[in-house]
Amino acid sequence: MSKTVLILDFGAQYSQLIARRTREAGVYCEIVPHDTPWDALQLRKPAAIILSGGPESALGDGAPLMDKAIVESGLPILGICYGMQLLAHETGAELVRLDHAEYGPATLQVADRETPLFDGVPDTWRAWMSHGDTVVSLPHGYHGLASTQRCHIAAMGNPKKKIYGVQFHPEVVHSEYGRAVLDNFLHEIAGLGNEWKMESFLEAEVERIRQRVGNARAICGLSGGVDSAVAATLVARAIGDRLTCIFVDHGLLRKNEAEEVVSAFREVLHLNVVAVEARERFLEKLRGVEDPEKKRVIIGHEFIEVFDGEAAKIPDAKFLVQGTLYPDVIESKTPQSKAGHKIKSHHNVGGLPEHMKLELIEPLRALFKDEVRELGRALGLPPAIVGRQPFPGPGLAVRIIGEVTAERLEMLRAADAIVREEIEDAHLNPHPWQYFAVLTPVKSVGVMGDGRTYANLMAIRAITSEDGMTADWARLPHDLLERMSSRIVNEVPGVNRVAYDITTKPPATVEWE
Ligand code: XMP
Repeated sequence: MSKTVLILDFGAQYSQLIARRTREAGVYCEIVPHDTPWDALQLRKPAAIILSGGPESALGDGAPLMDKAIVESGLPILGICYGMQLLAHETGAELVRLDHAEYGPATLQVADRETPLFDGVPDTWRAWMSHGDTVVSLPHGYHGLASTQRCHIAAMGNPKKKIYGVQFHPEVVHSEYGRAVLDNFLHEIAGLGNEWKMESFLEAEVERIRQRVGNARAICGLSGGVDSAVAATLVARAIGDRLTCIFVDHGLLRKNEAEEVVSAFREVLHLNVVAVEARERFLEKLRGVEDPEKKRVIIGHEFIEVFDGEAAKIPDAKFLVQGTLYPDVIESKTPQSKAGHKIKSHHNVGGLPEHMKLELIEPLRALFKDEVRELGRALGLPPAIVGRQPFPGPGLAVRIIGEVTAERLEMLRAADAIVREEIEDAHLNPHPWQYFAVLTPVKSVGVMGDGRTYANLMAIRAITSEDGMTADWARLPHDLLERMSSRIVNEVPGVNRVAYDITTKPPATVEWE
């Protein structure tokens, strides 16, 4: 097992991002609550500690603290934002509240060219700030390492103790050399090698699941997406056929998808799969419903009902496996995540009936989409499954604006198949992250043959993204757009006009509903 870095979480929005960057630097890490006692931390034999940022003020009454023994432990420590302020506060330096908080980009001026923390980074660069308090005097033994116009001590360090603090956020992409700073802390200051790979996460996770489940049984809902496929395969690796996968065909999948998914799971992944046909049932419940949130909630409830019915046939199941990802967690605002407002009800998060009394196993909870794909590859999943586009739990229902009917589903499926086929055949580089058709409730006039038409507007959405949290619209070649448009109006009855969505996320979301 490679060496572990522990990240003390003070409630930052970015703790998972710190973890991700650390793993990208080839160093294994775990996030732990900020108030974990040193004795408990010590048992995990950490090689270094990172203190995250957080929404509170270290000057306030309820400021989240850490065990003082951590600072005396002799381990290399990096405090980020609140973490740096807490370090300063705990070691007797002065902290004040700024008249105007500093948010967003600032020019960082490196003051100390000798410090290993800034090895290989330029004298000035743009760093991302987000703070209301600032350190104004240095603790004993510390040097100031960098400043911004508004923040005199934007980085500090005690080289003897290997304790460093940065006021900016090295983990966000907007901090130009943030990654280099984090890498310097991990490799040069803490002396950690670039050793950790997804394979190590895989092994550790399989072992953890095996221990937790013991001889019990688990069930898992398969949606057809990468996440549940990876989660199920991972758990099956740990407990074999004591995992039963339940695939609910809600009739909201893409063309031929239900059949492909079930056969891939059974024949390629050798998972123990129960397939439930529930198309009519979902359509019935969705009849006349136009509101997006209502649709999501209905599908979520119905899914649970059907799932519950099947799960009842496996009475000794004690665990439920879910492929919840980190973006789902923050965008749905579950009790485990303090940050973030509710944007959409992702139906794969929470909401299980009490009586099921199943314990959740969410092995992907700390991962981003691209990391899940990497894990899938490490598990040996075929490219057709690992490379699958993200697909929302409520399926095509959130790509039909307005009422979902069998006829409108058919129309969308046909157009969506054309979009996928054409984009895949174009072998674009870079390949869009996600691409699909959306059926709008707009009808417009057209002319086909010599006759007037009054038919539906189909939209195409194709985006580039790293993790689905932010997205840009893909600059698709015009001839590709033309091919998709002409094929859709010619081959899909009921459509006479095609539009291309050129909105980024934010302000739009990826899905239209
Ligand atoms: P939005 O539309 O929220 O989408 O910008 C971000 C990413 O999440 C996918 N998505 C979902 N995934 N359950 C899921 O598992 C859902 O309910 C859901 N809604 C959106 C979306 O396709 C995009 O990749």
